[in-house]
Order: sequence, then structure tokens, then C-alpha cells
Amino acid sequence: MTYAVTISGSPSAASRSARLLRFVESELAEAGIEVRRIDIRALSPAALLAADTSHDDLRYALAQVAGAQAVVVATPVYKAAYSGLLKAFLDVLPQDGLADKLVAPFATGGSPAHLLALDYALKPVLSALGAQHILRGVFAVDQQVPKEEDATLDAAIAERLGASVDQLSQWLHEREVIRQWPANAAGDIRSARSARSAQGAARPTLAA
Ligand SMILES: Cc1cc2nc3c(=O)[nH]c(=O)nc-3n(C[C@H](O)[C@H](O)[C@H](O)COP(=O)(O)O)c2cc1C
Repeated sequence: MTYAVTISGSPSAASRSARLLRFVESELAEAGIEVRRIDIRALSPAALLAADTSHDDLRYALAQVAGAQAVVVATPVYKAAYSGLLKAFLDVLPQDGLADKLVAPFATGGSPAHLLALDYALKPVLSALGAQHILRGVFAVDQQVPKEEDATLDAAIAERLGASVDQLSQWLHEREVIRQWPANAAGDIRSARSARSAQGAARPTLAA
């Protein structure tokens, strides 16, 4: 099953970074891609803080990440980095938990001064988790992202998010083709073989 998982790292119920995620989710859905959402703030805080991966909340969330081909992460910038909530979740992922997945990071911040927080803070952690394919990501300042679901996003941000979604969907469609390839190829090889043997039967042998 091919799907993307979206991870919201904000502790706030009305969240700007989650708003970016909602936009990306609806664009992915429009591109025909299944999306499964992990809202870290909804997971058991006790399980997260104790890194109790036997807790149902974490087991389920970790299984969602493990099975995804693409992982979209959104976080607020907190103290010049990403949120502690997101770090608590990333800390319970297996060491190679993002290997072989396309990862797209997004952040919102109060000030453009921390525009590079994705690059210097979050991306090294994603790499440490085995991610080899990380999109450039999008950083938006608060003024560009209204919290209200029905208010429109800043046009430049919407365009950059849309470009990320295009990259994500292209990757996922290619992965799906590759995933199905052995089965298709086996069928193709079988029919090519039987076509060859049908021809071979009609063809005179060298010995004859
Ligand atoms: C505890 C805390 C720390 C913050 N630190 C920063 C910061 O260092 N740099 C910055 O640009 N914004 C900072 N902000 C502002 C948030 O990043 C910004 O409002 C963001 O859009 C909030 O995202 P959210 O609504 O998804 O939680 C901070 C906000 C809080 C509550």
C-alpha cells in the first residue's frame, strides 16, 4: 500500500504549521495519494516522555511511519529550532526509521530570522534517521499562514507547497511502478518465454 504520512509537531490546537500540513494533505489527496495523519499532540504525553514504544498510541504511529513511502513533517520554530514535541516523537523512531522514504519538512515561525531552522536544525536529525531524500522544504512566517481553515494561504507559500506536492506525488507514483515491477516483470517474462517456446516448437531444430 502506497501512502504518505503527515506529522504535525505543534503543541497548539489552532496551529499554523498544521495549517500548512492540511493544505499539503488536500493537494496530495487531489493527486490521488492516500494520506495518513499523525498529530503528535494527540498521542499519550506519558508514553512519549517515557519513550514507551509498547504503548498503543506510539505503536500505531510508528507503524504508520514504517509503512509510509513519504513522510511530511510540519513544525513551529521554537527557540530557533523545531518543537520539543516533534523531537520527542523523532526520538522514538528506529535509528533508520526514515531510510528509503521521501521526507518533506515544513515550518512556520514568527520571524524570518529563523528561516534556515529547517536546514540547520531539522534536516540533520532527519538525515540521522536514515533519510537520504529530503525535499528543500518550505518555511513560512506567521503573516503568510492564517490559522483559520477557510482563510487563504499567502499565494507564494501555496505555490511552493504545491511544488513540493508535485515532487512528492511524482516520487510516490514512481515508487508504485517500481513496487509493482517484479510482479509485472514476472508476468512479462512468463509470456515472453511461452511465446518463445511456441515459436521454438514451430522452428526446426539445429540437429534436424
Ligand atoms: C515557545 C515558543 C518559542 C518560539 N520561538 C520562536 C523562534 O525562536 N523563532 C521564530 O521565528 N518564532 C518562534 N516562535 C513563534 C512560532 O514559531 C510561530 O508562531 C509558529 O507559527 C507557531 O506555529 P504553530 O501555530 O503551528 O504552533 C515561538 C513560539 C513559541 C510559543
